[in-house]
Amino acid sequence: MVVKLERQDEIAFVTINNPPVNALSAAVRSGILECMNAAITDPEVKAIVLTCAGRTFIAGADITEFGKPPKSPGWDELLAAVEDSRKPVVAAIHGNALGGGLELALVCHFRVATNDAKLGLPEVKLGLLPGGGGTQRLPRIVGLEKALEMVTSGRHVPAKEALEIGLIDEIVEEGQLKEGATAFANRALAGSKRPVKVSGSNAKLEATKDNPEIFDNFRKANARKFRGFLAPEYNIRCIEAAVNSATFEEGLAVERKLFMELMIGPQSAAQRYYFFAERQANKIPDVSDDTATRPIKKVGVLGAGTMGGGIAMNFANTGIPVTIVEVKQEVLERGLKVIKSNYDRTAARGGLTRELVDERMGLLTGSLDMNDFKDCDLVIEAVFERMDLKKNIFERLDAICKPSAIMATNTSALNIDEIASVTKRPEDVIGLHFFSPANVMKLLEVIRGEKTATDVIATSMKLAKWIGKVAVLAGVCPGFIGNRMLDQRERQAKKLVLEGAMPWDVDRVLYDFGFPMGPFRMNDLAGLDIGWVKEESRSSTVGEVLCEMGRLGEKTGAGFYDYDESRNAKPSPLTEKIINRFMATSGKMKWTVSDDEVVDRCIYPVINEGAKILQEGKAIRASDIDVVWVNGYGWPVYRGGPMYYADQIGLDKVLAKMKKFQATMGDDFKPAALLEKLVAEGKKFADFKQTQKTLEPA
Ligand code: 3HC
Ligand code: NAI
Repeated sequence: MVVKLERQDEIAFVTINNPPVNALSAAVRSGILECMNAAITDPEVKAIVLTCAGRTFIAGADITEFGKPPKSPGWDELLAAVEDSRKPVVAAIHGNALGGGLELALVCHFRVATNDAKLGLPEVKLGLLPGGGGTQRLPRIVGLEKALEMVTSGRHVPAKEALEIGLIDEIVEEGQLKEGATAFANRALAGSKRPVKVSGSNAKLEATKDNPEIFDNFRKANARKFRGFLAPEYNIRCIEAAVNSATFEEGLAVERKLFMELMIGPQSAAQRYYFFAERQANKIPDVSDDTATRPIKKVGVLGAGTMGGGIAMNFANTGIPVTIVEVKQEVLERGLKVIKSNYDRTAARGGLTRELVDERMGLLTGSLDMNDFKDCDLVIEAVFERMDLKKNIFERLDAICKPSAIMATNTSALNIDEIASVTKRPEDVIGLHFFSPANVMKLLEVIRGEKTATDVIATSMKLAKWIGKVAVLAGVCPGFIGNRMLDQRERQAKKLVLEGAMPWDVDRVLYDFGFPMGPFRMNDLAGLDIGWVKEESRSSTVGEVLCEMGRLGEKTGAGFYDYDESRNAKPSPLTEKIINRFMATSGKMKWTVSDDEVVDRCIYPVINEGAKILQEGKAIRASDIDVVWVNGYGWPVYRGGPMYYADQIGLDKVLAKMKKFQATMGDDFKPAALLEKLVAEGKKFADFKQTQKTLEPA
């Protein structure tokens, strides 16, 4: 039974038990309705407590039911039964009350929650809006501005804040939820608490009627964040309807209509796909969920440069002490100073208290001696990208680290097996590929070497979650999943500018596609001198010429673009001249490249490379590749990811376009064998399953 009814004296308890997160499936809705009706009609019952078993209150509607024919009972029937109850209903919340879970709590007449509870309407992250009256009831309780912020961010609000904004009526002690809710219900029965029907409370809305510009101001302030997404705008419109409708029901009708529009649209389908993709990425066929993991209580980081510093911050942020080793005192001090100023900036914005900055800095110990890694459970190497150097370091780590320690490299492209081969324990070696800035970017590519032990993989995946990263397992190949695919886009982008498109044309098209910035802007930001060696520069590419001129990107005020003091990028006439010169000497005809061609040329080879990665067993499944691109490369989540995008277009169409490009532009566009195979079988990337148990070399 997913919902049960019990009675203690005058109080009925309706308890939901639908692990893991008590999602409101049809069975749960039906169970609640049945138990509510029984409690309402039982003359012995005077008040009702709605609560959940297991680790959380209701975390929302059952997302697996979306996009399928609706099952009864419907939401309206359920919500009305609770809200219209003459007997007061108290929602007793622990864990998360999210989406439909919070909406159900909002039709209860009171809400109490434990200290650790979190409440929110995260539908926007699924490309949706709260479809159970949330957009109409929330502003009636917390006011317009808070409601706008909550529904468009999907933020989980902690219990303390929920109490302050009136979202809950009381905080009860952890472990005392039932007692606390019972005491609250008894007080309500004694008359000290008047039951509140939120749908009838209009005071907060009335107060904002004179301030209609609030909505447009909110839109303007968040335009960048919402760009490309439909759901935030639809959420705003629903709250506007809450204010402007003559009746609650009228506002509700707007919510229902807009909810359905989003639900059947492509953005929400992609975002729902992504929700499950991210969770699926944690599942590794030959590493079972119950694999014992190694305790990570102390971490070592080698190199305090761009990556080492950011990597160290991740662990300090979660209370894990870190030893950072550098070659020279002044480099070490510079590295620690960068970390400190990062924390100071966050503190200045109000994101951290001074005490926390000190606490985190206190967890970092600098050293010039690798022997200080001897008691570390995990050491991450982040020195220059040179195989000879990394091999030398791993030989030394092998001699220094304790027997159970994990030895990881942050290399962005080198062969992990070759690095592991210099140690006597290649099973303890793994790639932990963080993205820059490592303290900010969500993605962590976990690179499995040929001999990496399963418990080292399990530990790395768990650790990633602990430090707030989204981890994806990849096999050893140059550039792993993300950078290997990105190379294809870079290659085409560079070719396009030698055919007639300007860097800002390519960037604009990819920006409009939904990326935060195009490849040239990204290169300018990263620095055009990455991998450039002055002595070897032969003015043979546009990039080389720009570097030779000292135009190293945004940091020097010029690169492909020119930058003003506020770092705004402007198309550069000088870059245009350089490109035109290259074109003139190449003897190629300049032609007008269409926007569609830019998208196809830049994206299809990326998809094709993804297919090769899959066919070589370097990624477990297509959706893992999508998780990499959404978190590491700014792929717009409302397009799911490159592999999902290809599935939506139709793999036959992708293949046909690749063949057409191949005929005129050569083997950059040679279709992957897997792409041909799936098309021949009428299948999608989503249908593809690895047959080998592990990610073995091809
Ligand atoms: N429906 C179906 N399955 C769900 C689910 C949901 N709402 N929420 C979580 N799950 C599943 C996950 O897929 C996962 O399954 P798996 O073990 O097979 O991979 C399992 O529950 C556990 O989830 P997590 O791994 O995410 O567990 P965490 O403890 O890390 O996080 C959570 C818990 C914060 C509740 C997180 O799962 C979450 O954010 N869930 C989604 C919340 C949400 O978006 N709610 C709104 C739904 S839409 C809605 O309510 C519409 C309404 O307005 C009409
Ligand atoms: P960086 O040049 O900023 O930092 C490297 C640091 O390592 C320097 O401070 C240097 O003094 C130190 N170092 C060199 N030899 C050392 C030794 N023997 N012992 C201790 N410290 C030593 O380089 P960055 O960018 O941090 O890159 C580090 C690694 O991370 C490379 O393998 C790179 O490929 C990889 N990486 C870089 C990314 C980036 O965007 N910068 C992204 C992902 C991975």
